[in-house]
Amino acid sequence: MRLILVGPPASGKGTQAQILVKKLGVPQVSTGDMLRAARAAGTELGKAADQFMKQGKLVPDDVVIGLVRERLAEADAKAGFILDGFPRTVPQAEALDALLTSLGQKVDHVVQIDVPRELLVERATLRRTDVNTGRIYHLKYSLPPPGAVLEHRSDDHEDKVITRLDQYDAMTAALLPHYDARGLLRRVDGVGKQDEVTARLLAAIGL
Ligand code: AP5
Repeated sequence: MRLILVGPPASGKGTQAQILVKKLGVPQVSTGDMLRAARAAGTELGKAADQFMKQGKLVPDDVVIGLVRERLAEADAKAGFILDGFPRTVPQAEALDALLTSLGQKVDHVVQIDVPRELLVERATLRRTDVNTGRIYHLKYSLPPPGAVLEHRSDDHEDKVITRLDQYDAMTAALLPHYDARGLLRRVDGVGKQDEVTARLLAAIGL
């Protein structure tokens, strides 16, 4: 299964990817997580990406395309993957098409998770991530266990969330026709309990 999850910031891509990893047996490939790891490790790539991430802006295409190219070459991604947060621009989608063609692979489904903008700000600003497990929680909808060490992402403050939502509308929404024209795009309603959204996602990909 080669699946791409598309959706605005805080629509639930990471949450659903973490659930689908267990159900589908393929790894989650999150460019956001990879960039945050590079930033935490203090690599040159991480430092360069930080300039964009802290403003809520997209990191340049060549940086993320290089990261994904390396990640998809790893052994665990040979049999499939769940891409979360990539591609985000038409050039990224075209680079992915070329990469997969060179590997003799193809995308099976692109699922867009729809959530109205007014819910996304609350989802983002109250999100917390467990620094030890990487699990995603929410202070209202998905409470962390007692004692969890939680991170509040620096780009989850309201002003940055608004910038990220605007970037999504300006750049990432243009991806949808790219995949719709290829007959790959499915849409699911991302509002409701997490397990309800998972059930919709699985139905959308025929499982
Ligand atoms: P990235 O980490 O990819 O951020 P994003 O796309 O903005 O997505 P999020 O991680 O904010 O949200 P999500 O959809 O995964 O939602 P989640 O499941 O956590 O990217 C960060 C930055 O890195 C970008 O701004 C950019 O700078 C850079 N970057 C990354 N990829 C790039 C690329 N390809 N090109 C260029 N730059 C790139 O859920 C959110 C919250 O809602 C959680 O608290 C969760 O518990 C809660 N929640 C989930 N589901 C539900 C539900 N059903 N009901 C209620 N609450 C729910």
